Amino acid sequence: MPSIFQPNLLVGKVAFVTGGGSGIGAGIARRLAEQGAKVALCGRTQEKLDAVAAEIRAAGGQCHTAACDVRQYAALEGAIEGAVAALGGLDILVNSAAGNFLAPAAQLSANGFRSVVDIDLCGTFNACRAAFKHLAAARGVVVSITAGQAHVPMPLQCHAGAAKAGIEKLTRDLALEWGPSGIRVVSVSPGPIEGTEGMSRLGGDDPKRMTKRVPLGRFGRIDEIADAVLYLVSPAASYVTGACLVVDGGTELIGAGPFLDLMSG
Ligand code: NAP
Ligand code: COA
Repeated sequence: MPSIFQPNLLVGKVAFVTGGGSGIGAGIARRLAEQGAKVALCGRTQEKLDAVAAEIRAAGGQCHTAACDVRQYAALEGAIEGAVAALGGLDILVNSAAGNFLAPAAQLSANGFRSVVDIDLCGTFNACRAAFKHLAAARGVVVSITAGQAHVPMPLQCHAGAAKAGIEKLTRDLALEWGPSGIRVVSVSPGPIEGTEGMSRLGGDDPKRMTKRVPLGRFGRIDEIADAVLYLVSPAASYVTGACLVVDGGTELIGAGPFLDLMSG
């Protein structure tokens, strides 16, 4: 769906999107590029990055790709430096890379817990840290994608909940520390978003039943998350920092919401 925002909001800006090769991250990258930003995509799978980059270029945008694992600091720093060299700076960092699966805490291995925290939380810190000097030079903005698991207890999600809650705390701490450098640091917490890997992994076997537990009565769309990010990186949000924008159709208003169904079978 086309954006309702006025065009060319981000001409002259450069964005680096982790997890930009699919799903919500790809949708955000496409939206930022539509608005004139030059975009760099990172993820572990070069083919996925290439496919999104081809779409962005076909639509007239400029796109750079850098395959790497956000858990590997040196590789991620190299990817960010490469993007800065290729695109001429860095104004916007979007942290969308994540891993998740349903697992009861009593059966989750220590490595399973650590893997998710390492990708989501440590990966977000790694990207923020590696991007800091460039964001400070540009008086830029960080947007990290979290989830309702950060705010309400959800069954089978202790690993993702800990990781996403950590990202939101990191967001507030960095907003405090980096505000004097002119960097805004915010997060977006999507609800269940249709057509994504996250929903296919977490949605259970009766997604229609889940929508009944969303106050707005439907799943969200990728473009609704992309527009929330666009608002936050735009001049319209120039006095917003440390905040989490919840874009979930009201899902977390009813606590564990749709996920309760996963426990009741
Ligand atoms: P997705 O398509 O699987 O996106 C995650 C991306 O992260 C993938 O492109 C993946 O690519 C990349 N990635 C995973 N591990 C990585 C690593 N170690 N290093 C670098 N890249 C890595 O899933 P999605 O559903 O769109 O989720 C996107 C974001 O939205 C996530 O932060 C998720 O927690 C959040 N979210 C989603 C929903 C939802 O309903 N889908 C709801 C709330 C929040 P590779 O595997 O190629 O690396
Ligand atoms: N249930 C329980 N444990 C699981 C699991 C599941 N469904 N999937 C993986 N694990 C455990 C593994 O068993 C392993 O622990 P172990 O060594 O004690 O056996 C640990 O998690 C790491 O698994 P591995 O496959 O080696 O990790 P990875 O680093 O290659 O991949 C994942 C990370 C597991 C998060 C993988 O699902 C992934 O790459 N996801 C990215 C895409 C995604 O999740 N998108 C949705 C975003 S919301």
